[in-house]
Amino acid sequence: MSGVRLHSRGPSGTRRFGERIGRLLRAGDVVLLSGELGAGKTVLAQGVGRGMGIEDQIKSSSFVIMNEYQGPALRLYHADLYRLEDPEQVAELALDELAASGVLCIEWPERAGAEMPPEHLRIVLAYDGAKAREIDVIASGERYEAIVRKLRPRR
Ligand SMILES: Nc1ncnc2c1ncn2[C@@H]1O[C@H](COP(=O)(O)OP(=O)(O)O)[C@@H](O)[C@H]1O
Ligand SMILES: [Mg+2]
Repeated sequence: MSGVRLHSRGPSGTRRFGERIGRLLRAGDVVLLSGELGAGKTVLAQGVGRGMGIEDQIKSSSFVIMNEYQGPALRLYHADLYRLEDPEQVAELALDELAASGVLCIEWPERAGAEMPPEHLRIVLAYDGAKAREIDVIASGERYEAIVRKLRPRR
C-alpha cells in the first residue's frame, strides 16, 4: 500500500489537487472520497471533473445518488452514498459496469459496506481548522500506485 499526503490551505487548493488527479484518470478508474460532512469531498470531486475537461460543475444533490457528466474523452459517474439506507442498494447501481465505461467517483463509500471495488484510489479529507484540510491519498492496486507516484511532489 502506498500513499501521499497533501496539506490544503483553502477550497481552491483542494480543487486544484482534484484537477491534478482528474488529469491522470482513465476509463475504469475508481476514486473513493472519505471524510466528515464539509471536509471537502465534493470540492475535490469538482476538481476531478475539471481535470477531466468537464465543463459542468459537479454537484451533490440530495435526492439523486448518482450523476453522470460527459467529458471530451471520458464520462464521470459521481455518486454520493450519504443517504443510502441499505448497502444492498449499491448492488443496483451496478458500479462495476459503470466504472468500465468511465471514471467512478464515490463520496461516502463506507455507506456501501463491502460493495466497493477492491482496487481504487482512496482519498481521505480531514479538517485542520476552518480553512485547512489534510488530504491523504491511498492506493490499493498497481494502477493506483502509479497515480500516487505521479502525485508525489518532485524534489
Ligand atoms: N481547504 C479546503 N478544502 C475544501 N473545502 C474547504 C476548505 N476550506 C474550507 N472549505 C469549505 O468546506 C466546504 C466543503 O464542502 P463539500 O466539498 O461539499 O464537503 P463534503 O462533500 O465533504 O461534505 C465548502 O464550503 C468549502 O468552501
Ligand atoms: Mg459532498
